[in-house]
Amino acid sequence: MVKEIVERQAAASGVEEIQVDGFDHVEFYVGNALQASYYYSRGFGFDLVAYKGLETGDREQVSYVMKQGSVQMVLTGALTPESEIADHAHKHGDGVKAIGFRVRDAKKAFETAIERGARVHKELEEHEDENGRFLCGSVYTYGDTIHKFIERQDYNGPFAPGFKSVEKKCEGTPVGLMSIDHIVGNVEVEKMEYWVDYYKKVFGFYVYQYFDKDDISTQYSALVSKVMANKSGTIKMPINEPSEGLRKSQIQEYLDYYTAGGVQHIAITTRDIIKTVGELHKRGVEFLTVPQSYYDSLTERVGEIDEDIEELAKLGILVDRESGGYLLQIFTKPVEDRPTLFFEIIQRKGAKGFGKGNFQALFESIEREQAVRGNL
Ligand code: FE2
Repeated sequence: MVKEIVERQAAASGVEEIQVDGFDHVEFYVGNALQASYYYSRGFGFDLVAYKGLETGDREQVSYVMKQGSVQMVLTGALTPESEIADHAHKHGDGVKAIGFRVRDAKKAFETAIERGARVHKELEEHEDENGRFLCGSVYTYGDTIHKFIERQDYNGPFAPGFKSVEKKCEGTPVGLMSIDHIVGNVEVEKMEYWVDYYKKVFGFYVYQYFDKDDISTQYSALVSKVMANKSGTIKMPINEPSEGLRKSQIQEYLDYYTAGGVQHIAITTRDIIKTVGELHKRGVEFLTVPQSYYDSLTERVGEIDEDIEELAKLGILVDRESGGYLLQIFTKPVEDRPTLFFEIIQRKGAKGFGKGNFQALFESIEREQAVRGNL
């Protein structure tokens, strides 16, 4: 059963939505930002566009801003042992600290969130210099993860105050990554509803779709998931929690190694997934694989598609069809030392969902990897 847009009325039930234009950037706290920037540049084709650190007068942290299409990722490392960044890397390994929301009125967004019960991470700061006006404040969400409210429509400087632009120091060759499609969080068992309520009450978001044990389970493990979204559809954030199974759920494996709730995967769109994934393969990015039998019954399951199935099979790209069209997707293996964060590459051809028809094949693939890690 498709459970689409089941709770759109939540938005109409009195909680006014905090206006968010879209994802502004994702910030990672990492153990070695210099080396991480090289990985995203050479592996994923991001350009290094801005930097801050000792050379710009920052004594506490170093940050590299990577960009491809409209995707901005900030890689931040600590320069001192006593810092939130070092603590975060120690506790969680490399991972996502901040999901930045681009807003047109950061003061209103921040104050509204606080009024509705969000916990302050950093008070709202307003900067004004020759580049214009920039505002940012942040609040906590699941685990140690935060949401930043970024207002930058009257700002022309490199990324944010304190950063300098970088020209061609580490230029990536783009692979066709366009924009962030959705960002998925894993939370502790029986905590999903808590965080669903949080996004409803604080942000005025609604449940766009949900998946239960019948949708996502294998012989061994299961999860349940609700997708939180804003009305305009620019923000989509599924929240997963582990569900009882015979063995350890992939979500539980994440929680054990991340030692808290946090971001599980970031899905990035492309207009030509065969080209994008072909390039990523060449550069050594590793993907989950599905058995060849997945492709034997593909046409039966999804009907006619524009792409050559042999080519999809060669790269391990998955296909799912729903009422509005179809989508193509593939998942990387975890990109950190711990089995935590991974990426999804997605091409949408009319489909607005998350590839439900692929959950089974995908789960089995993840479990094969878990078994290799000794965690199943
Ligand atoms: Fe996804």
